[in-house]
Amino acid sequence: MTCGYRGPGVRVRVPAKINLHLAVGPRRPDGYHELLTVFHAVSLFDTVTAVAAPALTLEVTGADAAVVPDGPQNLAWRAAEVLAEHHGRRPGVRLLVDKAIPMMAGLAGGSADAAAALVACDAVWQLHTPRPELVALAATLGSDVPFALTGGTAIGTGRGETLTPLMGSHLPLWWVLAIAAEGLSTPAVYAQFDRWVAPVSEADPLAAPTGLLRAIGTGDAKAVARELRNDLQAPSLALRRGLADTLAAGLDAGALGGLVSGSGPTCAFLTEDAASAGQVAERLGRAGVCRTTRVVTGPVTGASLC
Ligand code: C5P
Repeated sequence: MTCGYRGPGVRVRVPAKINLHLAVGPRRPDGYHELLTVFHAVSLFDTVTAVAAPALTLEVTGADAAVVPDGPQNLAWRAAEVLAEHHGRRPGVRLLVDKAIPMMAGLAGGSADAAAALVACDAVWQLHTPRPELVALAATLGSDVPFALTGGTAIGTGRGETLTPLMGSHLPLWWVLAIAAEGLSTPAVYAQFDRWVAPVSEADPLAAPTGLLRAIGTGDAKAVARELRNDLQAPSLALRRGLADTLAAGLDAGALGGLVSGSGPTCAFLTEDAASAGQVAERLGRAGVCRTTRVVTGPVTGASLC
């Protein structure tokens, strides 16, 4: 799919992600948690446009534009700096970030913009950075940035940055995203996870989720729904009590299954097909348990020129 951009510079489209499986291990000496996750890119897209310019500037439009930082705190800005540094050049670029992915939503919107900025700056500066180098730079920016480059469905290990793409079924899965009025801080949700010393109930919590991988391979939405898991869901619910109502409302509305996405507070509901997704979204909207809903499909490709 192309967005047919004809303006100056280059434009890159990048998807949000949800996690079909997020198993969290112990906190490591570097402060991160060892993970075994299954990332899934869905059709909610930000776009980043890069235009060659004498100096680095950034403008944000779209969802949450008023609160998204437009300076060095924005990961897209950091991405431009990191790529320029890697090539020993100045980061001369005007970045325009048009957001549809809400901020602090558990959908990796900031990471998506960083991945898109890497691809856009690489193209506008005509650097032709080899893919493995771009992925390595992405990992220095954040745990979810490499996945935003690749998209699709992939297993993430380490702190989430080491990826194994899953080929599996090409059947689209239909999801409804229930987006909350206020975001949640990822470090706060991990800190809440750490406050609970979970009883060791599994021999290896970071073992491969074989049931889920089989279900993805066959494209069986009902089986995928049965296998959804997120270890950050309970800490996220503890910090945002109303999310339990959102999850219950999605299931009441006819979803096959649902879970908090990443560190939340977005809830993702898997549905049977497009028609069912539309119904679930409509019923969730009426239930008043979220700010807004989006019907999306997955998997979709990662950051790409459009
Ligand atoms: O890698 P990123 O900067 O996106 O991570 C944001 C925060 O999420 C980290 O500072 C850390 O608190 C938490 N995190 C973690 N373990 C991970 C990934 C993220 O504790 N594997």
